[in-house]
Amino acid sequence: MTEFVKIAYGAVAAPKGGTYVVFVAADVKPAPRVAALLGAAQARLEPAAKTVRFRGKPSSAMDLIEPAGLEGVRLLVVGVAPGKDGAPIDFTSLGGFVFGKLGAAKKVAVAFLAPAGEWDAAAAAEFALGLRLRAYRFDKYKNKKNDGDDADDAAPSVTIEVAEPAAARAAFAPRLAIAEGVELARTLVNEPPNVLFPESFAARALELKPLGVEVEALDDKAMAKLGMNALLGVGQGSKHGSRLVVMRWRGAPGRKSKPVVFVGKGVCFDSGGISIKPAAGMEDMKGDMAGAACVVGLMRALAARKAKVDAVGVIGLVENMPGGGAYRPSDILKSMSGQTIEVINTDAEGRLVLADALTYAREKFKPRFMIDLATLTGAIMVALGQEHAGLFSNDDELAARLSAAGVATGETVWRMPLGSAYDKMIDSRFADMKNTGGRNAGAITAAQFLKRFVGDTPWAHLDIAGTGMSSPANDINQSWGSGWGVRLLDRLVAEYYES
Ligand code: BES
Ligand code: MN
Ligand code: ZN
Repeated sequence: MTEFVKIAYGAVAAPKGGTYVVFVAADVKPAPRVAALLGAAQARLEPAAKTVRFRGKPSSAMDLIEPAGLEGVRLLVVGVAPGKDGAPIDFTSLGGFVFGKLGAAKKVAVAFLAPAGEWDAAAAAEFALGLRLRAYRFDKYKNKKNDGDDADDAAPSVTIEVAEPAAARAAFAPRLAIAEGVELARTLVNEPPNVLFPESFAARALELKPLGVEVEALDDKAMAKLGMNALLGVGQGSKHGSRLVVMRWRGAPGRKSKPVVFVGKGVCFDSGGISIKPAAGMEDMKGDMAGAACVVGLMRALAARKAKVDAVGVIGLVENMPGGGAYRPSDILKSMSGQTIEVINTDAEGRLVLADALTYAREKFKPRFMIDLATLTGAIMVALGQEHAGLFSNDDELAARLSAAGVATGETVWRMPLGSAYDKMIDSRFADMKNTGGRNAGAITAAQFLKRFVGDTPWAHLDIAGTGMSSPANDINQSWGSGWGVRLLDRLVAEYYES
């Protein structure tokens, strides 16, 4: 995996020809040990802060270029004063914020010391995770990187000064696994659909094998045998085959409990099919596999950090295209569950893919729970914007745990209602159900559709149409594909399902 920043731990001093990062609160005084390192430059902090009205607030920073006593050094002073709400420091965001301030700096040392009090090894590891997530780039198809300055392309080296480097290094190991999982998910979402189609996506999932993940890819023939006509119906208009990829990480051998299962929508390109989408913005539909990307990234993270859990990932990979062989409005598809579906709109394809993927997961694994992720509806963006993913669940405990993990990671979810009145909206005149419920409550009727395929398995559906792609840039993500959900679900597993 490409490293866009090199991270090391150790004792450092202000690096000649480099950037030295120190942290201060409202009094603009760093920790005593840092102050000693700064020498004469320490005296410049207060007057400089006055000049630029820097008050040590979170998400603010001040640059001192070669202050007296620190010749050849850029001093980057970063605010960590407690905010009004008294919220604890989010070290992942802090790491991302600092990386964002580095600019073209190549040699960086961070005096990772609280202005007053202590920061521990876990905080240093979270900080490093933030650096790493912020540093991610997707520029493999650009001949001119970094606005044409090719010489500048080398990854910056950041040394983090902590009291116990070995402890920080150990604490970072699982975070590195998470970072690589997020990066993988982002890259899969960012890849164009002429490169990443069902077969090539499946090949990327197979690359998890060396990490100890069991991976199996079912092709059209295998799925036809299983009766997956809903998923196959969506893919039949494409030149590409469809795939169902099943990944298993057995990190809790000998434990009798059933596996936890994650299911992802993997529509590698969603043109809408015969109910074709308008041209404007259609290019975004390369990201309609963000749910599947998250599941692959999550499986990678769990395996790489050797999570003590039995986890399964199931992703339904198709391309939704118009053409002479494509499925059409008014077609009736018989799903793997036996339930029949009248197609009203071929652009409501994600739920058809998930219907068979959920049925397969339920029958094959008898899961402890199933969580599906899908860029399922534009309607969820109307409701929640890009701030929360929509959460739908038949299980209050699972929903509460997801909400808590969301708050802890910043990948927040908002629970939406389900109910029989919504369920009625997808009853069909000709089949057991139809694949759209009309204009109203579009995200909810989509979830009701999925619910008809989960039986009494504890289940949660995350509609990530707003959060998985085209994300607003923030401290820890500048990428179009956000990798949303990897950190959320890793946390869910770590908090509640590891032995
Ligand atoms: N993939 C789209 C949903 C989507 C839209 C994701 C925008 C990300 C950004 C999904 O397959 C879709 O087309 N949904 C339709 C459903 C409708 C036809 C009932 C929608 O949301 O308009
Ligand atoms: Mn669609
Ligand atoms: Zn779609």
